[in-house]
Amino acid sequence: MVKLKLLIGKERIASKISEIAAEINHDYREKDLVIVMVLKGAICFAADLIREITLPTDLQTVQCSSYGALGVNRGELKIFGLDSLDITNRDVLLLDDIFDSGHTLSALQEALWKKKPRSLKTLVLLSRPAPHLNEIRPDRSGFSIGSEFVVGYGLDYKERYRGLPGIHILEEE
Ligand code: IMP
Ligand code: MG
Repeated sequence: MVKLKLLIGKERIASKISEIAAEINHDYREKDLVIVMVLKGAICFAADLIREITLPTDLQTVQCSSYGALGVNRGELKIFGLDSLDITNRDVLLLDDIFDSGHTLSALQEALWKKKPRSLKTLVLLSRPAPHLNEIRPDRSGFSIGSEFVVGYGLDYKERYRGLPGIHILEEE
């Protein structure tokens, strides 16, 4: 049995997204903004954010798998979709759901820099203060959370619960 406890409601998420979108509208007004979203976890975040951004944004995707359908245990990190990215000389904002150990963001940043973007910044909805892999941190983060495992608003547990409108702590009983 799993138990879900609301941590961040949809209203708080929406107002945070408006705040972040306003910053992006300002920071990228003279730039060629490409949002690269990490599937599948960033799906809700990206969908809501691009509708608040008033610039002519290009949305592209990569897919990362680390946990897969196995649940909370980390496997080998794989990145798909790098070949079809069109980011050379463009201003890239990499979007992920959560910054945890930093493995995903570090690996993605390294891979994206190889494609020679003009600029590359990172934005995550959630971040943990937990032990991190290295000194790399997201440039912008929506909410700081603790070590609890969360689902909803794009985040999954064994590929479930992505459609919950808010972010919930998942507890196994
Ligand atoms: P990192 O590579 O350790 O920073 O982990 C980032 C990735 O792990 C995220 O893109 C998520 O897919 C996944 N992840 C980390 N913590 C959670 C969680 O609490 N719930 C769901 N997915 C998580
Ligand atoms: Mg993910």
